[in-house]
Amino acid sequence: MAFATETVYGLGGNAFNTQAVAGIFEAKQRPHFDPLIVHLADTTSLPLVVNHVPEVAQKLIDRFWPGPLTLVLPKQPELSDLVTAGLPSVAVRIPAHPLARELIRQSGVPIAAPSANPFGRISPTTAQHVIDFLEGRIDAVLDGGNCDVGIESTVLSCSDSGEVRLLRPGGLTIEEIEEVVGPIVRQQPTILDQNGPQSSPGMLAQHYAPRTPLQIVTDWPQTEDDLALGVLSFTPIENPERYGQVEVLSESGSLPEATAHFFAALRRLDESPVTRIFAKAFPEVGLGRALNDRLHRAAAGTSHSSH
Ligand code: TXA
Ligand code: MG
Repeated sequence: MAFATETVYGLGGNAFNTQAVAGIFEAKQRPHFDPLIVHLADTTSLPLVVNHVPEVAQKLIDRFWPGPLTLVLPKQPELSDLVTAGLPSVAVRIPAHPLARELIRQSGVPIAAPSANPFGRISPTTAQHVIDFLEGRIDAVLDGGNCDVGIESTVLSCSDSGEVRLLRPGGLTIEEIEEVVGPIVRQQPTILDQNGPQSSPGMLAQHYAPRTPLQIVTDWPQTEDDLALGVLSFTPIENPERYGQVEVLSESGSLPEATAHFFAALRRLDESPVTRIFAKAFPEVGLGRALNDRLHRAAAGTSHSSH
């Protein structure tokens, strides 16, 4: 079943039911090397999936759960290798959305859930987005409205030595995290080779991709009335009438607002008649880092379809 969270919609199943978990991989066409996040209603159920909680992880839990933070922790041996892709660790989070937490509470089990999109495609931030891509492949969507955060959780791995490593930038900013635990190890939030070493197997260079080729530019293309061009812009642009479709993510230049609108705007551009999408990088601070990560992957994901 798909359900709303504060980040993006998830496609959930009982983390202890191998058949349910296999069904998630099947519906998403997700490769089995890419492990799932296990969602809990509260910290009392942590020992079901996690072997122990390193001290540094406890600090993060106390400060940021429930919320858009996923922690990769030593796993409990009973948890299926299908959930964790055979890794000795498990990714866990407690979502903040009341609907998500009520679903987990009422089902009485930890819920394994990736984002509810076909593998590599744009993540869903409304129930309709889920239906658009997965209708016929899933049984239901719990509609919780638009996702407040709008991009996936930040994924961190925590070790007993106190090291905290960024595996995926997301809805909780590095600045907020470092305020609590000091400097963390920042793996480049871009482009890992698909065949290269994968400390977080989901960090593929190509992801979150529209079908329409997307290019990151420093200046908007100068053109007279080119209706084949689409623009994805953080803030309002000059002469929007020159382009076929313009999506402005925040009139006031607010990064949280832009983040909340990002995936939906990318989908609208993809569904519009434009044949090329242009975007500029976001300021590399706060949520801008996570948006740049998604933008680069989206561009990498479309670079092959342009020829
Ligand atoms: O906001 C979110 O995190 C959403 C909502 C539904 O909670 N979920 C989500 O799941 O984005 P998914 O499957 O699309 O992304 C999970 C990420 C992947 O990059 C995966 O490789 C990483 O977490 N991951 C999961 N388990 C891991 C592990 N044991 N070690 C390293 N990375 C792991
Ligand atoms: Mg995903």
